Amino acid sequence: MLNVDKLNQFYGESHTLWDLSLDVPEGECTCVMGRNGVGKTTLLKCVMGEVAVKSGSLRYDGDTELTRKRIEDRSRLGIGYVPQGRQIFSLLTVEENLCTGLAARRDKQRGNGRRKIPERIYELFPVLKEMRHRRGGDLSGGQQQQLAIGRALVLEPRLLILDEPGEGIQPNIVAEIGEVIRKLNREDGMTVLLAEQKLPFVRKFADRFVILDRGRAVAKGGVDELSDDLIKQHLTV
Ligand SMILES: Nc1ncnc2c1ncn2[C@@H]1O[C@H](COP(=O)(O)OP(=O)(O)OP(=O)(O)O)[C@@H](O)[C@H]1O
Ligand SMILES: [Mg+2]
Repeated sequence: MLNVDKLNQFYGESHTLWDLSLDVPEGECTCVMGRNGVGKTTLLKCVMGEVAVKSGSLRYDGDTELTRKRIEDRSRLGIGYVPQGRQIFSLLTVEENLCTGLAARRDKQRGNGRRKIPERIYELFPVLKEMRHRRGGDLSGGQQQQLAIGRALVLEPRLLILDEPGEGIQPNIVAEIGEVIRKLNREDGMTVLLAEQKLPFVRKFADRFVILDRGRAVAKGGVDELSDDLIKQHLTV
């Protein structure tokens, strides 16, 4: 679904991603792991076009080279993004927040009566339906994260990218989010790429992992290959 090959990225003079290669297979959940500051967000931003790539390729869906596409093309190609820190609109209601996602829907779905919030989102997150008239800023952190995911799902993406969805959220909601990711994979056939440092979450909900260390991919494989040794070496502080 997504093939990252020898990606190099710089912030000014600072070389942040080094010859980074990884594969995100269709219909699976792939998790990017690594300590703070190793480049997880930078990698996801490269995929979203929010930061420029120096060299390397980002091949999507077989033959689309993302590095040559504009930022706004991502949503039309079916890539949804939940940024780190959620970034919902605190003064808008839940429903209005979800509607902001509609603006990014692919052209073919416009104008044929489909410009409304897909019922699937309320099915996956019943709390968003209950609270649809509340302001985003009045929700708990966990509910805001669910809203941010809901907003990305409005465009019915084929690839969903999430940056640390479990950060600063109570464990029961993190588990609910994991279950939603599993449903998206299994029932909707959606491909998921996420950054996450929470090990139990990764072990339970991801199919494969990639560990980054100072901008390089130092280990990758199926989650069953995520050994205690790797964790000690690259993940514990
Ligand atoms: N806009 C920026 N300008 C310059 N340097 C940056 C910028 N954003 C990030 N960096 C640096 O790039 C490196 C990678 O940052 P990044 O945010 O990708 O890490 P991360 O793995 O997502 O960390 P975290 O787990 O804290 O979210 C860090 O050293 C960071 O300080
Ligand atoms: Mg980050």
